[in-house]
Amino acid sequence: MSRFSEPQDPVFRLLNTSLGFDRRLWHHDIAQSRAHARMLAAQRVIGDEDRDALLAALDAVEAELAAGTFGFAEDDEDIHMAIERRVTELGGRAGGKLHTARSRNDQVATDVAMFTRDAAGHAARAIDALAGVLIDAAEAHLDWTVPGYTHLQRAQPVYLSHHLLAYVWMLLRDRERFRFAAAQTAALPLGAGALAGVNFDTDREMVAAELGFERVAENSIDAVSNRDFVLDYLSAAATCATHLSRLGAELVLWSSEEFGFVTLPDAWTSGSSIMPQKKNPDAAELLRAKAPRVVAHLSALHGVMHGLALTYNKDMQEDKEHLFDAVDTLDLCLAAAAGMIAGARFDRERMSAAAADDLIAATDLADHLVKRGVPFRECHGIVAGLVRVAVDSGRTLGELTDDELRAAAEQLVPAEVRDLLAQQSWLESKVSAGGTALARVREQLVAARAALALHAG
Ligand code: ARG
Repeated sequence: MSRFSEPQDPVFRLLNTSLGFDRRLWHHDIAQSRAHARMLAAQRVIGDEDRDALLAALDAVEAELAAGTFGFAEDDEDIHMAIERRVTELGGRAGGKLHTARSRNDQVATDVAMFTRDAAGHAARAIDALAGVLIDAAEAHLDWTVPGYTHLQRAQPVYLSHHLLAYVWMLLRDRERFRFAAAQTAALPLGAGALAGVNFDTDREMVAAELGFERVAENSIDAVSNRDFVLDYLSAAATCATHLSRLGAELVLWSSEEFGFVTLPDAWTSGSSIMPQKKNPDAAELLRAKAPRVVAHLSALHGVMHGLALTYNKDMQEDKEHLFDAVDTLDLCLAAAAGMIAGARFDRERMSAAAADDLIAATDLADHLVKRGVPFRECHGIVAGLVRVAVDSGRTLGELTDDELRAAAEQLVPAEVRDLLAQQSWLESKVSAGGTALARVREQLVAARAALALHAG
């Protein structure tokens, strides 16, 4: 019997079905159905024979899904209905008892929470791998110099190790965000029923323990309405992808002939269909371009959830494609970043030549004056004047004459200025904690390795 007097419109079916994407949840759906059946029997809601018939049918369905032989039916609106239908076909009357004390509302929330928990753990481990590759690369290029940029203008030289480690700290923060997202999936929705709880004395703790949840959701209304954990995952993914886009952008720039700082591994580049000489940094470019896609998924789900009256609304079915695509996209990006960094060949000469320009020592020259008692603001102006004379006459700071130096400020002793410039000590002078002086970078490497090991998955 059905409540409906006419069949569903084919277009409505297409709009309404989620099977095309939510079949991906089948592992979780089977696992939760097993836990549910065991609990129903333990609570005497169904008999032990019913439980055994259900578990046998679930095993068979699992085998069919794993082998790809599961036959989906026209009427299967989603993976939950498909599995229950097949369980009923195989398990007879007992199969019809699987959905006792359960609604698709708490069911889908549970599957998605389990999926999100796994995805967040997976992302954290992929981050570990990439951060490890970056730390190794930093160690291998400990004292290689490279310009540090602001506004993409050469600003102050740094060690390449210091620059690479900057990404490690970003990624370790990302990993924290994924750990947070995983922790947000800790409360079991199952048992909330459609929204108000169920008419049986269920044991939700038992189900939670079997499915790896830390506790049961305290409020049945919240349990079926909640998709915060998906937003939390997407938020972590959006920030992480944004970090990777900056890495990708730098790899594109640095591998260009104009910079020539790095050669990307052939395995992560492609040729041009028309220009034989070209080697394109496609993977790095895609790291840049995938980030807004992940951010869009976050923003789209905020759009879906905002203003939704409690509790479940079909709108919420739209959580899945955003989540799944973000998971897949981020997975590819993290692996691609690790592959590119692991195989990158940095060009020591090119980088150090770019970092050797002595205009880059302007800050150090100003600080030299500070140490002679001149207020920093005045020093800034004095050195800016010298830079201007040098640039206007096509010379370096070291090529300015004694008279020109003395004219700029009486505290400037030409011999000392030349000494300072000749020492090229402007990296080793950055001795403050977190700075680029080698001793500081060494400390940082140790700290980064320790931080990486701390929550390694
Ligand atoms: N396919 C649905 C989803 O993904 C399952 C929940 C359906 N619940 C309902 N009351 N129609 O959200």
